[in-house]
Amino acid sequence: MHVVITGAGGFLGQKLARRLLGGAQLTGPGGARQDVSKLTLFDVVAPAADIARDRRVKVVVGDIGEEKQVQAIVQGDVASVFHLAAVVSAGAEADFDLGMRVNLDGTRYVLEACRKLKSPPRVAFTSSVAVYGGDMPKVIKDDTPLNPQTSYGSQKAIGEFLLNDMSRKGFIDGRALRLPTIVVRPGKPNKAASTWASSIIREPLQGDTVECPVEPSAEMYVLSPRRMVDSFLHAHELPAEKLGFNRALFLPGLTVTVAQMLEGLKKAGGQTAVDRVRFVPDATIRRIVAGWPMRFDAARARGLGFKADDSFDQIVEGFVQDDLRRNAA
Ligand SMILES: NC(=O)c1ccc[n+]([C@@H]2O[C@H](COP(=O)([O-])OP(=O)(O)OC[C@H]3O[C@@H](n4cnc5c(N)ncnc54)[C@H](O)[C@@H]3O)[C@@H](O)[C@H]2O)c1
Repeated sequence: MHVVITGAGGFLGQKLARRLLGGAQLTGPGGARQDVSKLTLFDVVAPAADIARDRRVKVVVGDIGEEKQVQAIVQGDVASVFHLAAVVSAGAEADFDLGMRVNLDGTRYVLEACRKLKSPPRVAFTSSVAVYGGDMPKVIKDDTPLNPQTSYGSQKAIGEFLLNDMSRKGFIDGRALRLPTIVVRPGKPNKAASTWASSIIREPLQGDTVECPVEPSAEMYVLSPRRMVDSFLHAHELPAEKLGFNRALFLPGLTVTVAQMLEGLKKAGGQTAVDRVRFVPDATIRRIVAGWPMRFDAARARGLGFKADDSFDQIVEGFVQDDLRRNAA
C-alpha cells in the first residue's frame, strides 16, 4: 500500500513515518489491512537518515505551495495521505502570506490532488485547537462553534471545511484531528507560542537551563507524541460512517499546570533538573497563552475510542525513552 506523508521532515511527521515503517498496518482501498510497502515523504526538509534509508521510502524535497509538486507526489497508486505540512502558529501569524500559501493553498492542493486519484483515498489532516477562540465557554464541547482568533487557526478551520466538503462529495474519505499541544518536542524550540511547554522539560533533562515565560499556575492542554501517532492511526482506521456529518474532532488530552509539569520533570530528573528552570515572565506569551482554551470535554472522540495519556509523568517517561535514550544510543 502506497502512503504519502506531507510535513514528513517535521516533529510529528517523522514520528508517524517511524511508526508506519515499524509495521503499523492500514486499511487499504479494498477494505483489508495492509503493510505499507511504499512511503512517500514530502517536505522542504529531508527526514532523519534512519527514515530516509529505508528501502520503502521515497524522499521528495519540495514546496507544498507549488501545485505541480503536490500533484507529482499524490498520484498513481497512492491510497492514503497524512497531511501534516504547515507553518506553525507564531510563524503563520508573523507572515500572513506564507501562512496562506502553505496552510491554505497547500492544503487545497493536497485535497485537489487526492480528488484526482482513481479511488477516493483516506486523508488524515492535522488541525488544531486554535480553531477555537474569542468568547469561549469554560469547557470546550463538541458543539462549541469554531471562532479562530489567529491566521493559523483560521487556515486550519478552512482546511477542515474543505476536507468535510470533499468527503461529502465522495472525492476523498477525510478525517481531521484538532491536536492539543504535543509535548515533549525533541530538538530545538520552534516558532510556536507554546514551545516553552516542551523546553521546560527537554532542556533540564539534557542538562541545560531554561527560561519559563509563564507562571506556575498557567495551564496547558497537552498530548504526547506517542498518543498523537496512536490517534492518527486510529483516525485513519475508523470507518467513515462512524464519523457522520463532521469529519473533524478534537482529541482528549490532559489539562496540566506548569507546576504539575515540573513535578513530572522532578520524577524523571530530580530536583537538579527542576532547579534548571527559571521563571522569566514574558507579557506577550502570557497574553497569548491566556487566550487559549484549556478545558475540553472530548466526549465524541472518547466515544470513538481516542485516548489521552494516563498522566504527565507518562508523557515525560515517553520522551526519555523515545528521544533522549534513542539519541544517546
Ligand atoms: N506540535 C503541536 O503541538 C501541534 C499542535 C496542533 C497542530 N499541529 C499540527 O501538526 C502538524 C505537524 O506539526 P509539527 O509539530 O510536526 O510541526 P513541524 O514544524 O515540526 O512540522 C511541519 C513540517 O511542515 C514542513 N513545511 C513547512 N512549510 C512547507 C512547505 N512549504 N512545503 C512542504 N513542507 C513544509 C516543515 O518543514 C516541517 O517539517 C502541523 O500541521 C501542525 O500545524 C501540531
